[in-house]
Amino acid sequence: MSLLIIAGSSRNASINRRLQERLAEVAEANGEQCYLYPPAELNAPIYNGDDEDANGVPSNIQKLATAILEASKIIVVTPEYNASVPPLLKNAIDWSSRLEQQPWRGKTVLLAGASPGQFGAVRAMDDLRHIFANLGAWVAPAIASIAKTDADKIAALDADFLTQFMAQGD
Ligand SMILES: Cc1cc2nc3c(=O)[nH]c(=O)nc-3n(C[C@H](O)[C@H](O)[C@H](O)COP(=O)(O)O)c2cc1C
Repeated sequence: MSLLIIAGSSRNASINRRLQERLAEVAEANGEQCYLYPPAELNAPIYNGDDEDANGVPSNIQKLATAILEASKIIVVTPEYNASVPPLLKNAIDWSSRLEQQPWRGKTVLLAGASPGQFGAVRAMDDLRHIFANLGAWVAPAIASIAKTDADKIAALDADFLTQFMAQGD
């Protein structure tokens, strides 16, 4: 049983990376084995069918798919860009959906997101819910939407709240 936590921002000071780390901290304190996926390794050329025909699915996306297949549960931590999913994440999902063995099918996916503003990435998570449902994943009903936040507030997020959130799908 292992928990894969993917964050959709490769920015060093990313608050969503801080949320990825806080979730892992709480999960590990609860005795779970976690794998924090390095956000930079989601990076791939924007999907293009000619590129796919010539070169196949990028090797880092194949590694991502293996990590998804091996995980018992996946948390996707997303920023929100213009009321939707940031391209780093959307592009990685699009590439991953081109593999013959569909990595998301039948997986348990939990959604979390943080923003400095009032939305707490809810609209990005709403879109991700549709995308993952379309890919055959089971998306947990409760989201962890952290609005009006910063790195310090995320580091202090309530462990019981995060534990309850992460228990979904057990
Ligand atoms: C192109 C762009 C669009 C954004 N659009 C939104 C938005 O629609 N809603 C929101 O709450 N924040 C929006 N933001 C602000 C992000 O929430 C903020 O930059 C956040 O810190 C990004 O996540 P990160 O810290 O994990 O990189 C946007 C930021 C960028 C760069």
